[in-house]
Amino acid sequence: MTARDASHPLEKLNPKVRNRFPMVDRDSRGTPRIYLNTGAGSLTVDTAAGVAHEAQGRLNPMPGSVATGELDTAALHARVRDLVADFLHAGDGREVSFHQSATSALFNLAFSLRSVLAPSANLVVTDLDHMANISPWETVWGEGHGAEVRRARVTPEGTLDVGYLLSLVDRRTGLVALTAASNGTGSIVPLEEVASAVRRISPGCLVAVDAVHQAPHGVIDVRASSVDFLAFSGYKVFGPMLGVLWGKAEILERLKPYRVETNKDVLPWKFEMGMLNNASLASLEAAMEYLLWLDGLVSGPASVTGDRGYRFRSVMTAIADYEKGLTRRVLEGFLEFAPDRFRCFGIADPARSGERVPTFAFEIAGLTPTETKKRLWAEAGIQIADGNHYSAAIFRHLGRPEGLCRASFGHYDNAATVERLLEAIRRLLD
Ligand SMILES: Cc1ncc(COP(=O)(O)O)c(C=O)c1O
Repeated sequence: MTARDASHPLEKLNPKVRNRFPMVDRDSRGTPRIYLNTGAGSLTVDTAAGVAHEAQGRLNPMPGSVATGELDTAALHARVRDLVADFLHAGDGREVSFHQSATSALFNLAFSLRSVLAPSANLVVTDLDHMANISPWETVWGEGHGAEVRRARVTPEGTLDVGYLLSLVDRRTGLVALTAASNGTGSIVPLEEVASAVRRISPGCLVAVDAVHQAPHGVIDVRASSVDFLAFSGYKVFGPMLGVLWGKAEILERLKPYRVETNKDVLPWKFEMGMLNNASLASLEAAMEYLLWLDGLVSGPASVTGDRGYRFRSVMTAIADYEKGLTRRVLEGFLEFAPDRFRCFGIADPARSGERVPTFAFEIAGLTPTETKKRLWAEAGIQIADGNHYSAAIFRHLGRPEGLCRASFGHYDNAATVERLLEAIRRLLD
């Protein structure tokens, strides 16, 4: 690491952070490993894992307003909605609904827009996105309602081609669906810039964001970015398998989700199908509280006085800065490899580390992605991913339709885990 990175508070706090993640350096069989697969799911923080079991045993299945168990369950639901609202810098907890996964949250949203979007509207999706934010729009709106769904492409570098996206938008564009960060190449999308440029062309256009990949890596501020809907997953933010959907209250009020007649037709319940998973909600609460705990360590006494939304933004800013240092070191290391033997896809210039998250798609000449994955596991105990990670379109653009290897880091990583990956690749290249 450079001297500048070494001075980052999260560098010094790294042992404490790692201590909170029981699986950080061993797998489910107790075998030592380096987990470089945060893109597929972050590690789970200790309290988020423990409380799920405890909550499942303790809480009443249903919330209610009389018996103690019911009251406790209702209070948990309300608390977690409020926590998530603060995490996103949203208005209030009524804007937050819970779903089986981010994918099902986005399908639910697509169905619900039938009361707001006209079939004569066109929609724009992007090839940078995971299919979770493409297929709902193509199937529900394209196939289901006969709307035109346009596809924005990516640049040869693997970033969103914003100019091309804007060329697809016209006054009849009713919705633009886009990711906050790519789980394929790690590129970050400048949401605020894109949303305001879209609305200059189509003032009433809705913007739906998939923030699943961005959520563990930096600030999500729905107010500043001025988007209308946003989804993320609990298991990417150190917590449970659970999807979260946020939307602006005044728009959510007008939506018409598919719901059973007896479900309350009011926010946030109208979007939720059946009973909520209390164990997952308790786990999400613990994951969010972990972030506040971390802010306490990073910011010291200033953390206690800040409001909760501010503390979330402060800790996520610290995480983004710290991870920028890790990214720079990874990219500097990649530059040492012979370009005819090794290729990093996506932004590869260390000076542009702030435009991406630490998710690296790469290729080693002569090895398939699966062979590379197997050898890193067998020879260095490093766990990475291969394939297209459900973001099929971007890999087609990059000329690698079968996908690539992907090493993805989180804030629990450090100079040593970066060096372990670089050293292992060096050995594969020898
Ligand atoms: C960018 C992105 N969007 C959406 C998803 C899907 O999330 P879920 O599994 O909660 O449906 C993923 C999962 O990997 C993802 O990386």
